[in-house]
Amino acid sequence: MPERKNNRQQEQASGEEALILGIETSCDETAAAVVAGGRKVLSNLVSSQVELHARYGGVVPEIASRHHLSLLNPLIDEALQEAKVNFSDLQAIAVSHGPGLVGALLVGVATAKALAYATRLPLIAVNHLSAHLYANRLEGAEISYPAVNLIVSGGHSELLLATESGRHTSLGHTRDDAAGEAFDKVARVLELGYPGGPIIDKMAGQGNSRAIDFPRAWLGEEGRFDFSFSGLKTAVINHLHQARLQNRQVNPADIVASFQEALVEVLVEKTLAAAKEHGAKTVLISGGVAANSRLRAKMKERIKEELPRASLYYPSLKLCTDNAAMIAAAAYPLYRQGKFASLDLNAYPGLKLEL
Ligand code: KG4
Ligand code: ZN
Repeated sequence: MPERKNNRQQEQASGEEALILGIETSCDETAAAVVAGGRKVLSNLVSSQVELHARYGGVVPEIASRHHLSLLNPLIDEALQEAKVNFSDLQAIAVSHGPGLVGALLVGVATAKALAYATRLPLIAVNHLSAHLYANRLEGAEISYPAVNLIVSGGHSELLLATESGRHTSLGHTRDDAAGEAFDKVARVLELGYPGGPIIDKMAGQGNSRAIDFPRAWLGEEGRFDFSFSGLKTAVINHLHQARLQNRQVNPADIVASFQEALVEVLVEKTLAAAKEHGAKTVLISGGVAANSRLRAKMKERIKEELPRASLYYPSLKLCTDNAAMIAAAAYPLYRQGKFASLDLNAYPGLKLEL
């Protein structure tokens, strides 16, 4: 007698409810997650190494790799347990294979390959940067096209246009420091700790954002959708230097509030200009810097003023910063298209955004 499948098994076989294990080790977060059908998060665990790196003022690649190695396997077991599934329930194993730190990426890639080999499950290679785009979808964003996406993380600042079909084209990107990198570097010169973004975000609340008129790099007509934050970072350093030479006291809260305001204004106005020019119906922000409270508030305020009919989405804080749920979600369309990686998959530290 043929075996009868229940609804769940039928859905899984057709791919609609495919259970995918996501693995993320591109920088200093070790993460594992199980996501069903590209949307339903069954578990999403992140073991942050932030405290280990904080004493050095930034991520130390060798330390990151070593900790991924000891943290990843138990974390995967925990992610499966929390999702109440076994390896035999999964349909695929997805891993972020770039961009990122090569040694860190290699731990995730080698682990995913070994698991795929042992379980005979298909392996899916995910671009970490493209995966940031999936954070909003995981929380039910209803995307009407055209849509403008701003990805702002520790390593990237990208402005993208998604057309009717959901395909992306690049409108602009950073010419030097990424937005998160600028936060981290400014926090470092002020000796505030690592990572700088959340510290500055909190401290800026106690400062006057109009105290210092730091430069905004608009980059003229040709670079109207590109970003540049190294001049802003240098302006903060020069401000501190001048104060020191003149023996003047500075108020760090005013400095970070003014710095944050300058950076956020550029991100918001450029995203808004792109959204207006392309008649965007949806604006989405993602990546670690999308956790910034001033960016979220200002983007909301300006879109309401200038594009009241567009919807704005930003992920919950946990899905802004690096996580493996976004890796499993980004793997889902690849799973549906049968785009699997072979067991000689490598890590690509400089992998570009896939459009
Ligand atoms: O996306 P992410 O976790 O890792 C990368 O792919 O780079 O982003 C990390 C970056 C760091 O630079 C961190 O300082 C920044 O995101 N970040 C923030 C906030 N939370 C994290 N920046 C500004 N405000 C925040 N609240
Ligand atoms: Zn990231």
